[in-house]
Amino acid sequence: MKQASPPPQQIAEPRKPRLLPSRRPTNPFVWCGAIVCIILSLLLIVTGIIILIFFLVVKPKNPVFDIPSASLNTIVFDSPFYLNAGLTFLANFSNPNDKMDVMFEYINIDLYFQNRLIASQSLPPFLDRTNEAKLGAVHMISSEVYLSPGLATELQMQMKNNSVLFNIRGAFRVRVSFGFGRYTYWFYGLCQIELTNPPAGVLVARICKTK
Ligand SMILES: *[C@@H]1O[C@H](CO)[C@@H](O)[C@H](O)[C@H]1NC(C)=O
Ligand SMILES: *[C@@H]1O[C@H](CO)[C@@H](O)[C@H](O)[C@H]1NC(C)=O
Repeated sequence: MKQASPPPQQIAEPRKPRLLPSRRPTNPFVWCGAIVCIILSLLLIVTGIIILIFFLVVKPKNPVFDIPSASLNTIVFDSPFYLNAGLTFLANFSNPNDKMDVMFEYINIDLYFQNRLIASQSLPPFLDRTNEAKLGAVHMISSEVYLSPGLATELQMQMKNNSVLFNIRGAFRVRVSFGFGRYTYWFYGLCQIELTNPPAGVLVARICKTK
């Protein structure tokens, strides 16, 4: 039989030549790779230490978005489901950091009745220095915004109760700076507010959180 399996010695034989290549001098590319790896690891460690020191020394905290007061001026239905509403509130943007300035670069505020967006507003950029709070009056106007029959009924029920609820969602892009370092990120403020009926509706309760 020609194609019989080879005797055991023939299988073992090719192992010897395989040992030879490792005795050659190591390829320079391998050295370069190793050096790059070491440098990258060191960079990673140094970066980690810098970030750790930053968090221990600067103790960064998120800015805070709050609504200390608000007034509900108008709620008028034009035909049963088209809402016209006017709400004015005071926004308090505070920077609780001792060592960082916060630049609010982009500010967008949305007003919701339940999950229905009924008005939107952008504010001009401003700077909050360390431990500073800036106040801004924000006017939200809804003009001929369609509400589903269910939502329109819900709003009318809330007015019968003299307790109108809105959700305010703020999206903010901030640039924080400390000495020569700076970085930019987004954060979001959510407030649920309860007001009495227009035309002189006042803020009765609020729950605000930042994330
Ligand atoms: C704005 O927020 C800051 C920080 O929480 C607070 O000290 C200040 O009294 C607030 N201002 C108003 C008008 O609520
Ligand atoms: C109105 O008030 C009553 C009694 O407090 C409550 O049961 C009901 O859920 C309220 N309705 C609305 C729409 O808030």
